[in-house]
Amino acid sequence: AGCTGTDQPAVKDNGTDVKEEKVTYIVGIDGEYPPYSFIDKDGNAQGFDVESVKWIANEMGFNVKIQPMAWDGIIPALEAGKIDMVYSGMTITPERLDKVNFSKPYWVVNQAVAVKNGSSVTMDDVTEGKVVFGVQRGCTAHDWISRNLVETGKLPEDNLKLYENFPLAVTELENGRVDAVMYDTPVLIDSIKGKDVVKLGTIDTDEEYGIAIRKTDTELLNTMNEGLDKLMADPYWNELIAEYKLE
Ligand code: ARG
Repeated sequence: AGCTGTDQPAVKDNGTDVKEEKVTYIVGIDGEYPPYSFIDKDGNAQGFDVESVKWIANEMGFNVKIQPMAWDGIIPALEAGKIDMVYSGMTITPERLDKVNFSKPYWVVNQAVAVKNGSSVTMDDVTEGKVVFGVQRGCTAHDWISRNLVETGKLPEDNLKLYENFPLAVTELENGRVDAVMYDTPVLIDSIKGKDVVKLGTIDTDEEYGIAIRKTDTELLNTMNEGLDKLMADPYWNELIAEYKLE
């Protein structure tokens, strides 16, 4: 008694159930990046990263649309607002951090080299630049070769062949147009399955994968970091690791 208004709710309940619309984020992926992100035989995007982002979306209360695209243009697409994040085995690098933010790391990889079965190429040939290389344009294998072999004068620029995705480089290896390919180890192993191609060796780069997000989207960055924490603490994380044969 004496206080006015306390008997009335601030907002009148008119009986309708007001559901908050879930926001939809567009997730850019490379569709040729097994086991992290790929298009299965039914045309659906799947993989370790794709299933991870779906789980996080469900947990954190948003929808996702998975958008396959060319790797080389994926950061510009993020900056331009065509996609909201890149969740596709993207290594956190200083160059990329100049342009975008990254979530906390969720995986660590090294690079691996593959040659055609029966090839006489050795790892020494590779690290001395005595091969014709095939790599995906704009990936960290490309960076490694540029920095360690091209810029040092060991590998003539013409002997570095660039492709939009890794399977194209593997096809050129099978054709004999390149002598060696280099890529993130788990993806190289998955991509050469059933081909007349063998893994020759690895190069330790200790790369960390993170989710790339526009610098202005700090709220989404927090959401994804929280989602990653929850995912990595959930039993589903180990199920995913087993399902996609990662270690
Ligand atoms: N981790 C390497 C990079 O960040 C290779 C990534 C390629 N990823 C992909 N989805 N194609 O450049």
